[in-house]
Amino acid sequence: MFFKILVELSLLAVLAYAQETNFVYNGFRLANLSLDGIAGVTSNGLLKLTNNTNQGKGHAFHPDPVRFKNSPNGSVFSFSTSFVFAIQPQYETLSAHGIVFVVAPQRGLPGSLPSQFLGVFNETNVDDPTNHVFGVELDTILSSEFQDINDNHVGIDLNGLTSANSTVAGYHADGGVFKNLTLISGKAIQVWVDYDGTEKRIDVTLAPINVQKPQTPLLSLRHDLLSIINQNMYVGFSSSTGVFPTSHYVLGWSFRVNGEAQALALSQLPKLPRIGKKEMSKALTIALPWALLFVVSMLILSVVHVIRRKRKFAEVLEDWERDYGPHRFKFKDLYIATKGFREQELLGTGGFGRVYRGILPTSKIEIAVKRVSHESRQGMKEFVAEIISVGRLRHRNIVSLLGYCRRKGELLLVYDYMPNGSLDKYLYNQPKVILNWRQRFKVIKGVSSGLLYLHEGWEQVVIHRDIKASNILLDADLNGRLGDFGLARLYDHGTDPQTTHVAGTLGYLAPEHMRTGKATRSTDVFAFGVFLLEVACGRRPIKTGDVEDAIMVDWVFSCWDGGAILEARDPKLGAEFVEEEMELVLKLGLMCSHSDPLMRPSMRQVLHYLEGDIPMLELSSIGSRLTFGHHEGFDDLAMSYPSSLYKASAHSSSVAESLLSGGR
Ligand SMILES: *[C@@H]1O[C@H](CO)[C@@H](O)[C@H](O)[C@H]1NC(C)=O
Ligand SMILES: *[C@@H]1O[C@H](CO)[C@@H](O)[C@H](O)[C@H]1NC(C)=O
Ligand SMILES: *[C@@H]1O[C@H](CO)[C@@H](O)[C@H](O)[C@H]1NC(C)=O
Ligand SMILES: *[C@@H]1O[C@H](CO)[C@@H](O)[C@H](O)[C@H]1NC(C)=O
Ligand SMILES: *[C@@H]1O[C@H](CO)[C@@H](O)[C@H](O)[C@H]1NC(C)=O
Repeated sequence: MFFKILVELSLLAVLAYAQETNFVYNGFRLANLSLDGIAGVTSNGLLKLTNNTNQGKGHAFHPDPVRFKNSPNGSVFSFSTSFVFAIQPQYETLSAHGIVFVVAPQRGLPGSLPSQFLGVFNETNVDDPTNHVFGVELDTILSSEFQDINDNHVGIDLNGLTSANSTVAGYHADGGVFKNLTLISGKAIQVWVDYDGTEKRIDVTLAPINVQKPQTPLLSLRHDLLSIINQNMYVGFSSSTGVFPTSHYVLGWSFRVNGEAQALALSQLPKLPRIGKKEMSKALTIALPWALLFVVSMLILSVVHVIRRKRKFAEVLEDWERDYGPHRFKFKDLYIATKGFREQELLGTGGFGRVYRGILPTSKIEIAVKRVSHESRQGMKEFVAEIISVGRLRHRNIVSLLGYCRRKGELLLVYDYMPNGSLDKYLYNQPKVILNWRQRFKVIKGVSSGLLYLHEGWEQVVIHRDIKASNILLDADLNGRLGDFGLARLYDHGTDPQTTHVAGTLGYLAPEHMRTGKATRSTDVFAFGVFLLEVACGRRPIKTGDVEDAIMVDWVFSCWDGGAILEARDPKLGAEFVEEEMELVLKLGLMCSHSDPLMRPSMRQVLHYLEGDIPMLELSSIGSRLTFGHHEGFDDLAMSYPSSLYKASAHSSSVAESLLSGGR
């Protein structure tokens, strides 16, 4: 009988041993916990004791009771637990209360309050010895009513919240160095709670998640839990929030009676939400629209920039122009060459447009760019064709056309740069530098041979149409070079012959040219004659104002008539001139500007006279009716242009302007 009882007792012991609780949760996704309050398990398996609810509490208990004693009056078994927690306050440093590991007679801790009661007690039952509640608090708020030491402490609670022992959160690292831990750092912290049933001692140990369990516990308390812990109790966690929204998480948990709790598989624990994610997303919701706005406006700006740039450098290129490939310049290159057509690069302004100096970006060749505005698109093709074919002309006394560029309403012609500018600068308007006679004679001869080349030296006759001192350019060696030839054509093209306005410059226009509007070699010779007199007399063909010698040709003629043609010479030369040459040039000038085109010499003859190959004819022998273009021409002029226009007081025509400004 006694033996039988013994066997039964030992059987009971074996049974009791078999019932000893031992569990481990590495994440709670599949755990069967008893939750209440605002506690929940996130989709990735975090036990979230509280969410951002104010004044909330949450509990999580192991569903089954734990047997802590063999009998109601027996001694409490040793037990051990380990868990990883994290507290993430929504506002850094401002936390709602902490987490308590509890051993309690009932799940759900009925009647408990949030806030400083941590969801464990209420104001009536706190510190009541009949509570039978054992707790380890991880407290983040200093509650003076429970004599908390600070707002970041660990305490052992027996039936109440005034801790039996508490200390600053931290751990004893290897070598005995104490390191603080901040409970509300939001980082995962591991906790070990061990009750030694023999020694009647409670040890609490903390460590960051990546640190092994320290040898020295953070907190110890010698106390027999006999009167507190009943035979069957529930184990779990309680947490509460106050004013400041906070999330309390438990990542993993193991528990064991009569033995050391199993180590948590730290790598398998669910991941915490990133700290400050809320703030980040808040920042994002504010910043994102601005960032988008910024990106969109940058896009718009760059599109606008591209469009403007495209428009700025837009050119007109038609199929027929592709043949002129090498002669065609890119507007962009010309734009860069002239530094954006800067005022400082402006060489001059003439009847046809403004001329800019430039340096080609790649070849570094100095160029002059003439911007000619044109409205008539008609005839542009012929004109460009002509310009280009004429551009193939090469002579040391003509300015080479390098190419062109066409834009809407604008034609740009690119010429060799002539460093010494136009001849008129050296003749009149108080010139800074005066050309001496030798230089002038050289220029005259040069221009003659250049014009002869245009008239006879090429496969087709090229009429210059606008010979005048301001269209003669001087190269580095002061050789005269004809510029701007053919340009006047632009204004002839596409215009109605009935209302033709004659291109060219007043004072240089042959009378028949004014009548018919037709430019010929002979009309070029007429203008060349005026040019000769201009160079010899050092004055403009027409002086403005009501002066006696207003018309140069008249005046030279009257000097000749009076038997003193040398009187007409440029007084600025003084005595420094060759009499025969001066006389030759003056007489040749009169001869070329004869009103009858048939009486004018050809350029070939002119050159012969200048070279002294053939003797100059006496003017009187040219004809009994020696009439010069000036009279008839000028009368015509007065007829074909209203007087108001001629005086250029009301109307601004390019021709009248040329007259008043001295051409170009
Ligand atoms: C917190 O959890 C409770 C219960 O699950 C829920 O009713 C409440 O809406 C949650 N609050 C927030 C802010 O998530
Ligand atoms: C969860 O635990 C409760 C209490 O022990 C039990 O009634 C229930 O069947 C368990 N559920 C699962 C899915 O294990
Ligand atoms: C347990 O102890 C109490 C007093 O502490 C006593 O009244 C009770 O009888 C004891 N029960 C048993 C089964 O020993
Ligand atoms: C305090 O909690 C106990 C149970 O733990 C309950 O009986 C009591 O009614 C509660 N008191 C208040 C004021 O809620
Ligand atoms: C740890 O925290 C306590 C209380 O906040 C402070 O007095 C102590 O200086 C801190 N120690 C270290 C090492 O930071």
